[in-house]
Parts: sequence; structure tokens; C-alpha cells
Amino acid sequence: TSRTLVLLKPDAVRRGLIGEIIGRIERKAGWSISALDMRTLDQDTLEQHYGEHKGKPFYEPLVEFMASGPVVALVVEGERVIEGVRALAGATDPLAANPGSVRGDFGVIVRENLIHASDSEESAERELKIFFPGRF
Ligand code: GTP
Ligand code: MG
Repeated sequence: TSRTLVLLKPDAVRRGLIGEIIGRIERKAGWSISALDMRTLDQDTLEQHYGEHKGKPFYEPLVEFMASGPVVALVVEGERVIEGVRALAGATDPLAANPGSVRGDFGVIVRENLIHASDSEESAERELKIFFPGRF
């Protein structure tokens, strides 16, 4: 089993979609939510989290968007959960994401794509320490 960091982005919170998305995660057999917190992210946290994208043209608007309101941070544990939540989220560009995925069902704008999920075991462990220091 493994664990991953999920963020329900400010658009998901504003649009009232957190229950819908958490419900999809909860209904997966063998997965469980082991931590959950709603908070507004500061610049330092976002710089650590999205540091790999610093310098790219979409970085500044991405960070501004991610700080524009509260997010819900979750730790999800279970079988194949890293690939599994990435699949449940869908492709980065919502118009390229499969129908049935969160981004495919609810998104249009690339930046406002509702959900973040760690992309590898290394990313997951790094991100868990940023969002839940002392617990992971
Ligand atoms: P995250 O789970 O949020 O990390 O998304 P991802 O892993 O599917 O994509 P990636 O890490 O490459 O990019 C991080 C975020 O930056 C994406 O979720 C988008 O919100 C935004 N982003 C990525 N690429 C682009 C782009 O080409 N244009 C714009 N406007 N935003 C982008
Ligand atoms: Mg990413």
C-alpha cells in the first residue's frame, strides 16, 4: 500500500464540489483518508509545493490562483493510490481529460483544474512533509 497528497483546489471549494470529489475517493475499494484539513495556502508553502514549475510562464498565475481561497488537503492511503488518484483526477488539461474523471467531468480551464495529486512516491513523501509536517 502507499499514500498520496491530494489538494482540492480553490475552484473546487468555491464551486461546492469537495463532497463530490471526496466521495469518489472514499468509494474506491481499499482506500482511506488518513488526514484532512481546510486552509488558505501561503506563498512559502506554494513555492515549496510547485517549486519544479518556478520560471515557467504559468507559474505566477498558478500560485496566485492557489492562494485565492481555501483548499482542502487530504492524505489518501491504500492500494495503488498514487496512480489511482492521478487516474481519478484525469489529464492536466480538463478538455483532454477523460469523461468520468474529476477534471473531465467538471473542468474547462487548465489552471482551474480542481484537484492536485502527487505524481510519484518521491513527490508524495516530499509533499506530505510540506502539508502535514510532523505527521509524515
Ligand atoms: P498538479 O496535480 O496540480 O501538480 O497538476 P499536474 O501534475 O496534472 O500538472 P503539472 O504538475 O504539470 O502542473 C501543475 C499545475 O499547473 C496544473 O495542475 C495546472 O493547474 C497548471 N498548469 C500546468 N501546465 C499548464 C499550462 O500549460 N498552462 C496553464 N495555464 N497552467 C498549467
Ligand atoms: Mg504536478
